[in-house]
Amino acid sequence: MNLLITGACGHIGSYVVQNLPKIKKIKKTVLIDNLEFGRHNSLFNNKKGNKIRFYLSDLKDKKSLNEIGKIDYVIHLASMTNAENSFKDKKKMYDNNLGCFKNVLNYCIKNKCKLIHISSTSVYGKQTNIVDEDCEKKFLKPQSPYADIKLIEENILNKNKKKIKFVILRFGTIAGISPGMRFHTAVNKFCFLASIKKPITVYKTAMNQFRPYLSLQDAFMAFKFCIDKNLFNNEKYNILSGNFTVKHILDKIKKYKKNIKINYISSPIMNQLSYHVSNAKICEKGLKLKNSIDSDVKDTIKLLDNI
Ligand SMILES: NC(=O)c1ccc[n+]([C@@H]2O[C@H](COP(=O)([O-])OP(=O)(O)OC[C@H]3O[C@@H](n4cnc5c(N)ncnc54)[C@H](O)[C@@H]3O)[C@@H](O)[C@H]2O)c1
Repeated sequence: MNLLITGACGHIGSYVVQNLPKIKKIKKTVLIDNLEFGRHNSLFNNKKGNKIRFYLSDLKDKKSLNEIGKIDYVIHLASMTNAENSFKDKKKMYDNNLGCFKNVLNYCIKNKCKLIHISSTSVYGKQTNIVDEDCEKKFLKPQSPYADIKLIEENILNKNKKKIKFVILRFGTIAGISPGMRFHTAVNKFCFLASIKKPITVYKTAMNQFRPYLSLQDAFMAFKFCIDKNLFNNEKYNILSGNFTVKHILDKIKKYKKNIKINYISSPIMNQLSYHVSNAKICEKGLKLKNSIDSDVKDTIKLLDNI
């Protein structure tokens, strides 16, 4: 079977590429990225025997998928992903992310490919104890253009239910190291600042607010699970390793960096919300998650040791 990974040079995609041999069904993989954020390093040191072909293409371009050959599965990761920047780059983000998405969707429909679409737990945004995939509409309250786009994409997929087999994975905020890792999400950013002895910037209201986090290891296990078990039932699943507060994350970092300093700031993203996200639906299907945020913190700090 052949796999296409879009946005393959990014934080998540580059981890998947490293671990491809663990998905036995996949014999050949096509990677696409426009390298707009310069993560050429994700393509370094590819192991001999990994049957990988890389295309430098912009997925907004309708012709970008014309010559990639037969594909059975698509993991769609290509997106602009900085939620906070999405307020100032709104139009660019809508054009890019929806442009890529519609192109990939049409390709999958036309070629009968099964699609793993990555959404985000940031589609939830109402103060509550716990939310799941079947929550009332009032709990779907995206707090940024980035999250709004995720919900639009999910709705477009649902409208095309009869034409395509897909699964929507709503990922929590990623933690963990990969060749194309980035540092604008909480855990990595905090580890970086602690390592270079800068104060850690924390949103004033966020210290004790619960949010869902996802270890890269668990994200990969979810991809492998969907392909191995053929879980393309047009459903959506929350994927997270655990719900934590910023204080929990800082306590994990303090195990390795004792003297961290904290600087409180305000953010354009409404953040006086606290919510737990349930991953019971995917766990009931049999996916075993490792909950390894602690080792992600350890690995990230080790990567930046002696700076
Ligand atoms: N990282 C997280 O915390 C997180 C959490 C939830 C959901 N997600 C989602 O998972 C997916 C992957 O996230 P990531 O963290 O790997 O992001 P990333 O920003 O690290 O990688 C995205 C990749 O997509 C590529 N890309 C963007 N626009 C493109 C275009 N027009 N044509 C070709 N390539 C393009 C970029 O060059 C980049 O390499 C995204 O949809 C993101 O919204 C991420």
